[in-house]
Amino acid sequence: MDARKLIAQQLLDDPRVAEATRLLQAAVQEHTADLKAQPASPQQTQQLQNLLNEYANLRGNPLFFPYLGSGTGRSSLVELVDGSVKYDMITGIGVHAMGHANTDLLAELVPAILADTVMQGNLQQNVESLKLSRELVALAKRNGAKLNHCFLSSSGAMANENALKILFQHRPGAQRVLAFENAFAGRSMVLNQVTDRPKNRVGQPQTIAVDYVPFYDAHADAASLHHSLRVLERHLERFPEAHCGFIMELVQGEGGYYGAPREYFVALCSLLKKHHVPILFDEIQTFGRTLQPFAFQMLELDDYADVVTIGKMTQVCATLFSEEVNPKPGLLSQTFTSSTTAIIAARWVLRQLTEGDFYGPEGRNAAIQQRFAARFEALRQKAPDKISGPWGVGGMVAFTPFNGSAEAAKRVLHGLYDAGVIAFVAGQNPARVRFLPPFLSVTDEEIEAACDIVDQVMLSLSWEE
Ligand SMILES: Cc1ncc(COP(=O)(O)O)c(C=O)c1O
Repeated sequence: MDARKLIAQQLLDDPRVAEATRLLQAAVQEHTADLKAQPASPQQTQQLQNLLNEYANLRGNPLFFPYLGSGTGRSSLVELVDGSVKYDMITGIGVHAMGHANTDLLAELVPAILADTVMQGNLQQNVESLKLSRELVALAKRNGAKLNHCFLSSSGAMANENALKILFQHRPGAQRVLAFENAFAGRSMVLNQVTDRPKNRVGQPQTIAVDYVPFYDAHADAASLHHSLRVLERHLERFPEAHCGFIMELVQGEGGYYGAPREYFVALCSLLKKHHVPILFDEIQTFGRTLQPFAFQMLELDDYADVVTIGKMTQVCATLFSEEVNPKPGLLSQTFTSSTTAIIAARWVLRQLTEGDFYGPEGRNAAIQQRFAARFEALRQKAPDKISGPWGVGGMVAFTPFNGSAEAAKRVLHGLYDAGVIAFVAGQNPARVRFLPPFLSVTDEEIEAACDIVDQVMLSLSWEE
């Protein structure tokens, strides 16, 4: 008997679906075409405030920004329920890389709303989950990394939890984890311990033992490498065979947007390999945004990657791992892989990354960073006491405001927000203002307009030490 054309395919091929898709795209384009940055009206400001008060009451604490989105926007522009339109240069801390109301993506998502279920998970995966896993493995392995496996999940914390479970099973008896100082790994009971932030652990039991290694310090360079190596060696000697792995961000995200040269990571990774300690690259914030799809590819650390986690801009999170650490059945499973919408969106995002011109020193990510950096440098020359670098890596952009105190950064963030630019804080001592622009859609004009606002806000603010 000939293979039957699946009903699902017949549905997708129905000309009414193509027509509906075209109409939806046209409607969004028409309604968002004239969107421009603007303040709220006083009456709508009060309405928003009432909603925010109710929301704060429901969730127990207020939101960081007085933000409730209306559900539309265009590229980096986003409309709020108070009618204001702002430049979104943080994108939910790196999630909405495609920009707001992207109509190319919309067309891809129509099959998700026609699908039989909303969510995919343990017993029932649809074919998109397989295809996404296949594509992620191919991308991760393209320069020789031995990452043959991919387990999808719906949050970065879950991707990291799965990664640590894999590593603990791989090294029976190991009870400890190595991490960098100022690491951020997520907010589960275990990852709260890995994340180097005491306030995230208030009232929480100790679930895991973590040994910290200081991260690279550009001001100290060779001495810093020497120091990190010495501290790592001491941990390995004090607790022999006791570490399931070293979880590392290759550009520190929440820690303050600090990178390190290849030689630094090679020295640390070589020592870890000598002691048979597996290496876990946490790319939940870096994936997609540096000068290669994975930061470990930019730094040519493919040989050292035993496990890699990704999330945020991929919409679906994932733990990629080698044959050597592949766990026994039963260790990894969950009700939700993710929504079909997120899985299809993830495939679309990956296609943009692989088919677009984002990577390398001449790629779009580098150009975006250079455009921000040129504007911040010009502002620094005008007002050296108000702003300083470094300015970040690729689509991860930052500056230090004033003296780098948490209070100064907070004042600047709220000043920017009120003036129409959404950014966020990273790091402490110094606290920095960071930007994760929607790099798949952001235009040079949008970056320039957002930087004009940064100039106005920084020049109008002052800070007494
Ligand atoms: C490096 C890193 N790891 C893990 C996480 C946790 O991801 P999620 O908030 O999706 O659980 C984050 C989130 O900011 C992150 O930046």
